Amino acid sequence: MRMIDYTPQLHTAQAAARLAGAFLRERFHSVKTVDASEAHDIKLRLDKETQALIVARLQQDFPEYAVLGEEGDCGHDSAPAQWVVDPIDGTVNYFYGIPIFCVSIALQVAGQTVLGCVYDPMQNECFCAIRGGEAALNGRPLRVSARSAMAEAVVFIGHGTHDGSGAQGIARFAHISAQVKKIRILGSAALTLCYIAAGRFDAYIENRIHLWDFAAARVILEAAGGCLEYEPSSADGRTGSVIAWNGALPIHDALKMN
Ligand code: IPD
Ligand code: CA
Ligand code: CA
Repeated sequence: MRMIDYTPQLHTAQAAARLAGAFLRERFHSVKTVDASEAHDIKLRLDKETQALIVARLQQDFPEYAVLGEEGDCGHDSAPAQWVVDPIDGTVNYFYGIPIFCVSIALQVAGQTVLGCVYDPMQNECFCAIRGGEAALNGRPLRVSARSAMAEAVVFIGHGTHDGSGAQGIARFAHISAQVKKIRILGSAALTLCYIAAGRFDAYIENRIHLWDFAAARVILEAAGGCLEYEPSSADGRTGSVIAWNGALPIHDALKMN
């Protein structure tokens, strides 16, 4: 079968992510308009505005592709490919002035994610990969850590707040934190996965996450030698739980509660 080269699409994703990242960086210290505030989440006017900017840039080069975005979808089921966009991953951080958030853009063809681009505008770090190729950070190759002992590991444990996922997450948190060097919670799922790809973190476990949170970073992590298991919990497959790790840690054994 002929391999398709997705380099032009990756360049477009990078251009859109950098454009959106610059837009967010310029507004980081401004007062932000809150469109909706729930118990554990915030929706900003900027979430929507940033997605609109990304979609316009992506459609400039690939007008026939559909978009599945956290802030809304566009295009047809018959489109040859679909962008998966999270305009701000880490909105709560962004709103509270914590400079840990990113723009995440993936491309799916026939249900498979073929490329990912995650851009952290505050650090100017652009993580990218094409499936089957190398993962890169600002053009330099990336590799996961080789740490294989839980006692040496830095692990991210996140958890949702719906449907009992909070209680499960807290029990896991207590169980895992006793076994590892450190627990960290960045507040951005996509950046966390890229940090595992870069060898900074060793594992990530979260029990309620959406496709746009991890689609791009998954390609980057796997291209850097890491692993990700996703178990959907919603009928449309867009929400589920994730276990990601450097490929060396005995993460499943560590998760066993008895
Ligand atoms: C959230 C962040 C957070 C994760 C949540 C996500 P958002 O995305 O990635 O780290 O714990 O599950 O929903 O709402 O900031 O795009
Ligand atoms: Ca997100
Ligand atoms: Ca978001």
